[in-house]
Amino acid sequence: MKSNPTTDQMNRGEFMRNLGLSSVALMAFYCMGTGLTACSKSSDDGTPGGTVVTPAAGVTGNADASKGAISFTIDLTNANYSKLKTAGQYSIIGSLIVAKSKSGSFIALSKTCTHEGTEVQYRATQDDIYCSNHGSEYSLTGAVDVGPATKPLTQYKTSLSTDGNTLIVTA
Ligand code: FES
Repeated sequence: MKSNPTTDQMNRGEFMRNLGLSSVALMAFYCMGTGLTACSKSSDDGTPGGTVVTPAAGVTGNADASKGAISFTIDLTNANYSKLKTAGQYSIIGSLIVAKSKSGSFIALSKTCTHEGTEVQYRATQDDIYCSNHGSEYSLTGAVDVGPATKPLTQYKTSLSTDGNTLIVTA
């Protein structure tokens, strides 16, 4: 007697359900066993420096170092970037991190940690640049203060208009 494949065979999901596992437990099981990308956390994707996000409205020019010389203008009256008028704030713009330091000066550095490429952040309390991946710390000029990073971040020039509403960033 031949068996009926549609009724005799149990697929993986049915088998697991028969074991009494919930759909959440099933998803966890699949993620453990298969390493599906859909199960991965996006912050762990290994992309150096994260994705170079196209700047929001308020930025004109080139903010992506892979597309040529950095040269862009930030409209600080635009809601997307007006926080940069406040000391201690920062934005990721293209492949850069732009911050207004505690002292009120503007800094612009490459956003990619030179250790393994994680996107860095500005820490107002410490007034430094920090990589949360392995703890590298950089000064506001991009120099390494604490490793494991050994190479500095690329520093860019900033120039604020006299009315304080426009910041120009150049290589
Ligand atoms: S990737 Fe930044 S410290 Fe390792």
